Amino acid sequence: MERIQIALEKARARRAEQHAASGSQPTEEAVAAPQPVLAPVPEQPSVSKPAREAKPAPAVQKVQAERPPKPVAKGPAERVGPEVRTRWLALSEFRPDPKLMQRNHIVGFFGGREGGKEAGVVDMMRTRILQEMRKNGWRRLAITSPNPTCGKTTVCLNLAFSLGRQTNQRTVVADLDMRRPGMARLMGMRRSTSFSRVLEGKEDVAENLVRYGENLAFGTNTGPARNPSELLQSVEAAEVLAKIEADYDPTIVLCDMPPMLLADDMLAFATHVDCVLLLAAAETTSIDDLDICERELSAHTNVLGVVLNKCRYTDPSYGYGYY
Ligand SMILES: Nc1ncnc2c1ncn2[C@@H]1O[C@H](COP(=O)(O)OP(=O)(O)O)[C@@H](O)[C@H]1O
Ligand SMILES: [Mg+2]
Repeated sequence: MERIQIALEKARARRAEQHAASGSQPTEEAVAAPQPVLAPVPEQPSVSKPAREAKPAPAVQKVQAERPPKPVAKGPAERVGPEVRTRWLALSEFRPDPKLMQRNHIVGFFGGREGGKEAGVVDMMRTRILQEMRKNGWRRLAITSPNPTCGKTTVCLNLAFSLGRQTNQRTVVADLDMRRPGMARLMGMRRSTSFSRVLEGKEDVAENLVRYGENLAFGTNTGPARNPSELLQSVEAAEVLAKIEADYDPTIVLCDMPPMLLADDMLAFATHVDCVLLLAAAETTSIDDLDICERELSAHTNVLGVVLNKCRYTDPSYGYGYY
């Protein structure tokens, strides 16, 4: 992952040179030191195979937190108050089809033994993210990428189920890619309510959230929203997130976001989250695009790291050998 870090540095140096050549002053941002990168996730086979034979998932890299830490307030799920517990148990329950999860590369659903090495990669990413978030007292994490189909929803769901296997976590996942919502489809969930309508104040969050087990809940959409950017910037969106935190006391709120370079939805929402994971697809995402996104994001929130998804080859130093 050092190579991504180096490439980001080069992209910045090149941009600074271009500024110098054109006679314009580089902005402070253009010459700022790059943030450190998180860890990596391997490409998984596109055909359905038993999970233990599947190749691992995508890779992450780590970035330093620059903002002041908030006080860590969240306790373990077992210590949740009776009212919060009652609200969790009142949510509709959902049991995904394991075959569909496998087909859609959601290996975090299976865990270490059944999920094989690739579930181990996801768990490792979860642990590193949790460590960083706990250390800083962060609760809201957004996942985005420069372009579409880098695997944001896939990684988000992997992370969600991996977190769900930890009984001391309560995780709420929100599908906020309201231009191309894909979360319900990837999990085979058929619902008649949309999280976008919750943000509009037209539906109740308790009706929209669906739980898996007792500590993992999903807020999904039935289709695209008409005004996603405005919805994400609205006061109501902030209020809905605050209500979810008050009513369900999640230790983590995971937000599956749209890609950054097609619309301003992610930047509009950046101030509502504590940190962001930036996803890159191996052999697809350019370093320049990654660099632009990382710098734009870090002007508004903390960039927790860069995850390299769909890697065909992983670094043996990460312990996953050669794929
Ligand atoms: N690590 C991976 N290995 C193989 N296929 C993947 C991986 N991550 C995502 N995909 C596939 O890439 C496609 C796009 O993934 P998706 O999560 O919907 O992307 P996004 O949310 O960024 O648009 C899907 O078909 C998904 O199954
Ligand atoms: Mg998606």
